[in-house]
Amino acid sequence: MLEQEQFMEAAAGSLEAGTFVKLTMTRYGGGETGLNSLSIRLLKIKGETKLSFGYRYKTKDLVKNFAIAPGLKELRSQTLGVFKSLRLFTTTKDWELTYNKRMQPRLVQLKAAFGETSSGPQGNDRTKKRYIEAANNIYLEALGIANAQGTILKGRESKFKQINKFVEILDSLYKTSSLQDKAVVSAIDMGSGKGYLTFATYDFLTNLVGKEAIVTGIETRPELVNQCNGIAEKAGFSGLKFEAGAIGDSIDQACDIAIALHACDTATDDAIYKGIKAQAAMIILSPCCHKQIRREMDQSREIKRSLQHGILIERQAEIVTDRLRSLFLELSGYHTKVFEFIDSEHTSKNLMITAVKSDRTVDETAVLQEIQALKGLYFVRSCYLENLLFPETLLNPSLASSI
Ligand SMILES: C[S@@+](CC[C@H](N)C(=O)[O-])C[C@H]1O[C@@H](n2cnc3c(N)ncnc32)[C@H](O)[C@@H]1O
Repeated sequence: MLEQEQFMEAAAGSLEAGTFVKLTMTRYGGGETGLNSLSIRLLKIKGETKLSFGYRYKTKDLVKNFAIAPGLKELRSQTLGVFKSLRLFTTTKDWELTYNKRMQPRLVQLKAAFGETSSGPQGNDRTKKRYIEAANNIYLEALGIANAQGTILKGRESKFKQINKFVEILDSLYKTSSLQDKAVVSAIDMGSGKGYLTFATYDFLTNLVGKEAIVTGIETRPELVNQCNGIAEKAGFSGLKFEAGAIGDSIDQACDIAIALHACDTATDDAIYKGIKAQAAMIILSPCCHKQIRREMDQSREIKRSLQHGILIERQAEIVTDRLRSLFLELSGYHTKVFEFIDSEHTSKNLMITAVKSDRTVDETAVLQEIQALKGLYFVRSCYLENLLFPETLLNPSLASSI
């Protein structure tokens, strides 16, 4: 096939000319169970340049390193329509080879996504696995995390660490979710801010897992939305867009992954509600402030006696709010976990709630009892999330009688 030959020639030519950056293959259509994507890059091992093939399976990652000539042979065997979407990144231009349903190839040349400093092998002396690499990373550079050489900028190390930790969590949840069998995965990042995690989510879904991804960032600040849309275009992330608006007002849309990290106060509840309503396969939250429940805890009773200091009331409100959130998620059919996201030295807002949609039967009575007991203990008059989920609630009247 002419197109495949041209693609191979472009790959071999870029290796010879030293302009090769990387080659990614997605939409696997071959017979190997569980294989999703393949990413090829140059690696320097013991002074020798190798082609490193990173095979991404549903439940594992496999790396095979080849010398250039056998690597090109392996590459050829994988380009014959085994993967249906291939992209060669070079510093001069990019090449995209796709196959349609009838296996007809289409080859297009694209503007180079990476600059001249991106080519050449990387060392393999890194000990810690990074999900998101700083080298050749357009969005990390545009977001001021890394420079063009792929070095993390001074003072941005903890942000980079946080991004990778988030993707690590995303990856582990993904492996236990129902999303592995879906061809197209959608995600909404609510309160996306500067978009660090939104970009990383898109990168993870498309380049690491090999899915077609539709990712939306929702953010109230239009200047951030415009900036992020510009970076998405520059990075060639065609399935990623940012919309201006409030989470609660955003239109309901398909959402396999609902994300809300550090969205203020009840914005986290709006995000949970949106995720549950969309029947998202997973919901990832890191709550910010907890003002709503704090206001609703009745401080004129026992609680006031035991929690005389503002900071103690605040901490209690955080615990009550986040436990109620996890219970409402459980009630809605999710398996939840609450844990410390990153070290508290990076941020004190480091609690994470993850929820994965589960098939197991929920003991609704037990969960409802726990919700009522918790609300009763702290005399919580009204819970914003509960009101969203159960506007005609049966919980409140029964709770009122139990207090
Ligand atoms: C602390 S930043 C976090 C950004 C991002 N999620 C992260 O963790 O890197 C919170 C962002 O949420 C936005 N935000 C707060 N409430 C919102 C709402 N109701 N709807 C949309 N965005 C909201 C703020 O403008 C801000 O940019």
